[in-house]
Amino acid sequence: MKVAFIGLGVMGYPMAGHLQKSGYQVCVYNRNQAKAEQWQSEFGGSIAPTPALAASDCDIVFCCVGNDEDVRQVALGDDGIFSGLPTNSILVDHTTASAELARELAAIANEQGKFFLDAPVSGGQAGAENGVLTVMVGGDETVFAKAEPVMAAFARFSQLMGPVGSGQLAKMVNQICFVNTVQGLAEGLSFAQKAGLDTDKLLDTIGKGAAGSWQMDNRGKTMCAREFDFGFAVDWVRKDLAMAFKEAEKLGADLTVTKQLDGYYQEIQEKGGNRWDTSSLISRFEK
Ligand SMILES: NC(=O)c1ccc[n+]([C@@H]2O[C@H](COP(=O)([O-])OP(=O)(O)OC[C@H]3O[C@@H](n4cnc5c(N)ncnc54)[C@H](OP(=O)(O)O)[C@@H]3O)[C@@H](O)[C@H]2O)c1
Repeated sequence: MKVAFIGLGVMGYPMAGHLQKSGYQVCVYNRNQAKAEQWQSEFGGSIAPTPALAASDCDIVFCCVGNDEDVRQVALGDDGIFSGLPTNSILVDHTTASAELARELAAIANEQGKFFLDAPVSGGQAGAENGVLTVMVGGDETVFAKAEPVMAAFARFSQLMGPVGSGQLAKMVNQICFVNTVQGLAEGLSFAQKAGLDTDKLLDTIGKGAAGSWQMDNRGKTMCAREFDFGFAVDWVRKDLAMAFKEAEKLGADLTVTKQLDGYYQEIQEKGGNRWDTSSLISRFEK
């Protein structure tokens, strides 16, 4: 099977590498070509000068860029994925983008006799590097059945959530839930430090009970040390929350507390923490 990967960022670079290592013939495209050359020297495969050329002859094209506008730029237009993608082939978008864009791209694919899946991921940089991402997918069951075994090269678990757009909606829920968990942890750990508790012992103990979470296991100790260099950036989470707020307005869903947390992340940006990771909510408390 011939596949292509568009966007070799923090996430895409290792994801495309896992595909090549799993035996697929991977053609990559990256806007900054030096990164594509670096990828090729590490993994092999081939490089294309445009997304359209990368997509030509492919059964499946994967894409993982920044936001809605970036996806539009790589998917549409003369050099875009759709102008090269053969009929009956699939575009799988791993970008965290809007559900609206997913529906728009699926309609374009449909008009051209091609297929589209929205497939945002969770698991961060470490998940991409270790090939253990979770993928939330929107689209048709038969299309998902074709793509799922290929995505297994970089994913531990993929789930079809429903029709196109459902993957992005599921990712919004993921973001709403995790930022609320991080804030709970930030308040608890700041309380513990003020109370003079041994936070290593505390985390090892309460992490085994009802308060335990992935965030507690993976970020608890670094939050206590006020270290915020562990992946998913504040700028990215605000982009994701903005999409969730837009969708919530349409649905009439109440995101009062999540909006308050978005305001906290804005405070962190204002003090220069744009690239800090999302556990930096604890920076609002004195150590
Ligand atoms: N990082 C995480 O922990 C994480 C976790 C889950 C989901 N995500 C989501 O995954 C997506 C990618 O994140 P990332 O961390 O890999 O981002 P990144 O490191 O900033 O990489 C972005 C990639 O997209 C390319 N790109 C961006 N805009 C483009 C455009 N207009 N035209 C062509 N190429 C473009 C960049 O090319 P250049 O190299 O030329 O700039 C780069 O290859 C985002 O939607 C993010 O929210 C990230």
